[in-house]
Amino acid sequence: METRYQYALPDDPLQAQSAVEEAADIIRTGGLVIFPTETVYGLGANALFEDAAAKIYAAKGRPADNPLIVHVAHPKDAEGFAHTTPLYYRLAEAFMPGPLTVILAAKDNLPRTVTAGLDTVAVRCPSHPVAAALIEASGVPIAAPSANLSGSPSPTNALHAKDDMWGRVDMILDGGECLCGVESTIVKPEEDGSLLLLRPGSVTKEALETRLGVTVRVAPAVLGQLKEGEKVLSPGMKYRHYAPKAQFILLDGTAESRIKFLAEQKNNKIAYLCYDEEGEALSALPVKLLFIGKEQDTQAQAQVLFRILRDTDKEGFDVIYAPLPKTEGLGLALYNRMIRAAAHQIISL
Ligand code: TXA
Ligand code: MG
Repeated sequence: METRYQYALPDDPLQAQSAVEEAADIIRTGGLVIFPTETVYGLGANALFEDAAAKIYAAKGRPADNPLIVHVAHPKDAEGFAHTTPLYYRLAEAFMPGPLTVILAAKDNLPRTVTAGLDTVAVRCPSHPVAAALIEASGVPIAAPSANLSGSPSPTNALHAKDDMWGRVDMILDGGECLCGVESTIVKPEEDGSLLLLRPGSVTKEALETRLGVTVRVAPAVLGQLKEGEKVLSPGMKYRHYAPKAQFILLDGTAESRIKFLAEQKNNKIAYLCYDEEGEALSALPVKLLFIGKEQDTQAQAQVLFRILRDTDKEGFDVIYAPLPKTEGLGLALYNRMIRAAAHQIISL
């Protein structure tokens, strides 16, 4: 398939508008468009179109067995295909548009191909101006997973999406780098009024609890805990996701213990995801330092994590080490993505 690459950057609003209009035509007529959001790039199709999920997953190179997030221009547009609730509107008031996805009961008109057979649907109202303009101009809700090939990290800029998806989609809209860098927070309202956190993101557990005054329970899978009675036969197969080609191993310890550990390693090609503060102490070691920001600046780390994981593939490292993030605030999202990229390989120092 021929892929068109169009810029939709803020410095050229006329070009951006015509690119968005062209993309909206493609969505309306059943095509596939890669578009920027504030989290990661999405691979979108008309959510009300029966074949949307099949087309999307054919492009991603996997079976259509994972439910898709449906993107709307305004929170109330969810009423077109989902049963909204007062709690949904409270969440929308506090966090939409923005990097939050809410699970609702699906109405009958929503193709069950989009929800992978579930009677619930994931709803998200993105804040990125290009995403918002595209959904508005299309006049339909847009089903979109992250625009990566199955298994690789989500793309945080249009060139990463292009690397994976060129020739597989009708258009790529380049709206620059994504601000959040990790996918949206997903919550599921429970019958008792609490929220189940299914995927951590830039809207943190703490922010949800503070703004809404509700209890937020973290789903065990977020921290990599297994369900009772569940056995991991092949952890690598089960969890490897967002994974670089090199071995990726997390170090659970203090800065001093990490530095000591790295100094003892004799492998030929080692890289280390390095907090800025650690750079000086490590500069003499034969380890390639990949700086991810200051230790406390989880926002900066989230923004660059997937880009760094992708870039490492070009350099042929044997092993990549990284500090195990703390699970507070946005750290929980980093922890969740990194334990999966590392297929749960953690060394306690
Ligand atoms: O930030 C994001 O959410 C990005 C951008 C493009 O919006 N999208 C994204 O989509 O990350 P994807 O397909 O990579 O991840 C969607 C997640 C999956 O983990 C899926 O299982 C979950 O949403 N999901 C979708 N519908 C669901 C449902 N009805 N119940 C529970 N989980 C659901
Ligand atoms: Mg994804």
